[in-house]
Amino acid sequence: RHFSEQAQSLKGKKVLITAGPTKESIDPVRYFTNHSSGKMGYALAEEAEKMGAEVVLISGPSNLPVPTGVKFISIETAEEMYEQVLKYFPSADIVIKSAAVADYRPKQTFQQKIKKKDGNFIIEFERTNDILMELGKRKEHQYLVGFAAETEKLEEHALGKLERKNADMIIANDIMTKGAGFSADTNIVTIVQANQKPKKLPLLSKYETAKRILEEIVQNIIKEDH
Ligand code: CTP
Ligand code: CA
Repeated sequence: RHFSEQAQSLKGKKVLITAGPTKESIDPVRYFTNHSSGKMGYALAEEAEKMGAEVVLISGPSNLPVPTGVKFISIETAEEMYEQVLKYFPSADIVIKSAAVADYRPKQTFQQKIKKKDGNFIIEFERTNDILMELGKRKEHQYLVGFAAETEKLEEHALGKLERKNADMIIANDIMTKGAGFSADTNIVTIVQANQKPKKLPLLSKYETAKRILEEIVQNIIKEDH
């Protein structure tokens, strides 16, 4: 099935990818989520598999078809994603965290439907675990890639995340730009790495963007091996 040389450049590598939004229940009828479609993460999973990798895709709710040949794990909450990621992390060579994980979840999930009353209603939220931050602490041989969806100061915020989370690469995108971000089929990303000038890719399909990201990772892993 795979013919070109580049198609095999991830052969023998175990790649763990997270994708999509997370979903946190407030009561049996309401939930808290975000606009992530999962497209970028699913494209990364599909392209990594084509490049010969053994891929595990851990995804929040998404309507996208599961790419062929990929081990698929479906989760809903940030906590479930945390548990599954930690389970597959030790054996992974490359981890790409493209999921849009909730930073907060309702402090209390009501067992019965909340009934309306007069006046305002206040929901208290608590912090979720930062999965990428935790992976950064536990990192051994793994190559760690995070994403950063920003609305301003793209490179500055991405560099901050790279350092804070001990990641090897941050894929930053400006979600306010037309043709980039959540449900679009295209993206405009900037690849941010330590001690390197950020590399801004042009407007590309999410598949083409995925290929470029994976090629950049492959280059860096080759450098590390020598
Ligand atoms: N991330 C994570 N766990 C969380 C929140 C974020 O693993 N609880 C990961 C995302 O998957 C992404 C990276 O951290 O790869 C950056 O996510 P982002 O939301 O851009 O950054 P935050 O650190 O959450 O900062 P903020 O939302 O305040 O910009
Ligand atoms: Ca966040």
